[in-house]
Amino acid sequence: MSTTTIRVHCSRDYDVLIGSGLLQETGKLVEEVHNPCKVAIVSDSNVAPLYLDKVAASLSAAGFTPVSFVFPAGEASKNLSVYADILNFCAEQRLTRTDLIVALGGGVTGDMAGFAAASYLRGIEYVQMPTSLLAAVDSSVGGKTAVDIPAGKNLVGAFMQPLRVICDIDAFETLTEEVFHDGCAECIKYGVLESPRLLEIFAEGTAKENIEEVVAISVQTKANYVENDEFDTGLRRYLNLGHTIGHAIERTANFTLMHGHCVAIGMVMIARAGEGLYLTEPGTTEKLIRILETNELPISCDFTTEELLDGALADKKRKGDLISLIVPKHLGECLTHTVPVTELGTIIDLGKETSV
Ligand SMILES: NC(=O)c1ccc[n+]([C@@H]2O[C@H](COP(=O)([O-])OP(=O)(O)OC[C@H]3O[C@@H](n4cnc5c(N)ncnc54)[C@H](O)[C@@H]3O)[C@@H](O)[C@H]2O)c1
Ligand SMILES: [Zn+2]
Repeated sequence: MSTTTIRVHCSRDYDVLIGSGLLQETGKLVEEVHNPCKVAIVSDSNVAPLYLDKVAASLSAAGFTPVSFVFPAGEASKNLSVYADILNFCAEQRLTRTDLIVALGGGVTGDMAGFAAASYLRGIEYVQMPTSLLAAVDSSVGGKTAVDIPAGKNLVGAFMQPLRVICDIDAFETLTEEVFHDGCAECIKYGVLESPRLLEIFAEGTAKENIEEVVAISVQTKANYVENDEFDTGLRRYLNLGHTIGHAIERTANFTLMHGHCVAIGMVMIARAGEGLYLTEPGTTEKLIRILETNELPISCDFTTEELLDGALADKKRKGDLISLIVPKHLGECLTHTVPVTELGTIIDLGKETSV
């Protein structure tokens, strides 16, 4: 059994363990960082039937007392009401400040269980056990936790780093192709930011065969940005590559398209706009399109510039009259391009297929 360990250095250092067969080792791996205690395992209705028993049995064998809370799978559950149910469950189970929460699932589970951990009794420890590729390479690392409110996604939450991240790559075998590819979009984003090796793997279409390496490079890349900007005030904005337009697409589509799919389109559009503005090496967009298509990701959408602009301007987290866009210089290096929001329409226009 091979395991890759990536140490994340920030306000509290922790390890991300990536490997095969880790779910059945949960008890031992948690015991390395926490004394036996009561553990509230939070999971969703898709993941729990597949993996909860294995994780609970392993925790019990190591002397922990697991209890579980399962909520209906899907983004619609990432709300204040389910979050309150988790807090109530922890209280009913009499979890104390020396007990633990384990988030077993995708990004929805990790974000919500993480926020419960950050706030229950003013904060208890938690362990992330990401089971989707997106959760493994993105949401489980970096300490951002959140729930959605009617005014927007992820508007309420906290920064709270986990005690450990345990990522069993075998869990990806039960993901649908669509959810797996959705996670690939974020990995390709890390490739465009700084990893030629990731781009090589995705260009060859061999992500599944190299999944441990893909997750390891992706986590290391995210960790590099998080370590230098834990509270998201500067450098971390590079992780938004493809996200300004991607979020606009998500919003315009009323969240019926998956996040990674929208980011894929957003990356293509910003690369094409970058070529139009002479910021991006000619040919970059074409290369990126080929990589995304090899991984069954979309490269365009039918929304008009006006619709996308409305979607981009509706971003509740947008601040001021300037907007910082992350633009590829070429595949493997990006730059920040700050423009007045009034220019965003022109950039979206340049990003559309008809412009080249
Ligand atoms: N905190 C952060 O920094 C951060 C970063 C990126 C995304 N996010 C959040 O992450 C969420 C998206 O993550 P996601 O795509 O993992 O969503 P998700 O948790 O809804 O998982 C996607 C689907 O896959 C299922 N699933 C997960 N693991 C499975 C497995 N091993 N086998 C079978 N089915 C499985 C889930 O039940 C769900 O239906 C969004 O809410 C987003 O806001 C947070
Ligand atoms: Zn994203």
